[in-house]
Amino acid sequence: MIVRRKRTAILISGRGSNMSSLIAAARSPDFPAEIALVLSNRPDAPGLATAKSQGLATAAVDHKIYAGREAFEGSLQAMLDAHYIDFICLAGFMRLLTASFVERWRGRMINIHPAILPSYKGLHTHERALADGVKIHGCTVHFVVPEMDSGPIIAQSAVPVLDYDTPDTLGARVLAQEHIIYPLALELATSERVWIDGNRVVGAAKDGGERRLVVPEPD
Ligand code: GAR
Repeated sequence: MIVRRKRTAILISGRGSNMSSLIAAARSPDFPAEIALVLSNRPDAPGLATAKSQGLATAAVDHKIYAGREAFEGSLQAMLDAHYIDFICLAGFMRLLTASFVERWRGRMINIHPAILPSYKGLHTHERALADGVKIHGCTVHFVVPEMDSGPIIAQSAVPVLDYDTPDTLGARVLAQEHIIYPLALELATSERVWIDGNRVVGAAKDGGERRLVVPEPD
């Protein structure tokens, strides 16, 4: 039984297609998270307009007007507090966060990354996967820790790399999977059916007994 839906903020910097997949999933009343705020560090992020057009609360905290990361994050935190946010989804949010901000949200902030972590941390993941000639690529949703693109993994999806893929064709195949696994991961993380055990995300068996690795459960 869901006692209270987690008030979730989605942090974006651009287009917001993952944001849209989270918004769509959270429209279901029995989804354990509700989207209470969409926040961008870029006032002109197209995703902000999309969220606003859907009647969601939006805010911009423009990183360019702050002297440093701490000042920027102070405003970010104030905005999250003002909206009583319990949980954060980073969805194409392209600012590195300080260790103190991440620690404050540890276990309550997740991120989507367009690669099978721990391979291809950082930027230009599709270009790098093609340059390496790998045959499998994909995406990961993980809890955020201070080290970039690290932290306990909640969900991953793999796609084949095809012979004549370009970064765009491969990226589109990965993105389609991102839109599937991000809502699943948010549901798992906010339904309190999973625990962080060291660097692993584990869930309890239905009978409350032995723990096992998390896999999305079929309905
Ligand atoms: C997504 O592919 C996401 O995985 C990636 O940015 C894109 C945002 O697209 N995130 C990162 O690279 C984070 N390091 P979207 O705005 O359409 O969701």
